[in-house]
Amino acid sequence: MARSAAGRSRTACRGENMPLLSAAAEVRENAYAPYSQFRVGAAVRGASGAIYRGCNVENVAYPEGTCAEAGAIAAMVAAGETEILEVCVIADSPTPVPPCGGCRQKLAEFARHDVPVTLATVSGQQLQTTVGDLLPGRFDAGHMERAT
Ligand code: THU
Repeated sequence: MARSAAGRSRTACRGENMPLLSAAAEVRENAYAPYSQFRVGAAVRGASGAIYRGCNVENVAYPEGTCAEAGAIAAMVAAGETEILEVCVIADSPTPVPPCGGCRQKLAEFARHDVPVTLATVSGQQLQTTVGDLLPGRFDAGHMERAT
């Protein structure tokens, strides 16, 4: 079985999980990226099994743009779900593009450490990692337990 640089098998968006990759690739087509020209698609699977999609949506005021992952998470929460079981992100890049720092924290809000994340390119590369590996030492609610 093929292994990624992260040392895990590269199967999460294949076989029975192929719909998650397909969903991310499809929604990427709707990305609004006139400033970077870099279109990204993301899909998350909620605890119900439903798939939620998001694409990047840029803005002429650059910091107001939103990432694909943020869009997928917003769709999931809007549908009434708060637990992510699997993540897939796809872009047309030379190597699989990892989520930005902010998106790592956003994913960590709704996903356990061991939740699989597949980073894919439109040309077929896949890198398999986890939410925990993307954000070691994450800030969580436990760090605020002394707050009054
Ligand atoms: N982008 C995402 O949507 N997700 C990522 O994981 C990396 C970056 C978007 C933000 C911006 O619209 C464009 O890619 C270039 O940074």
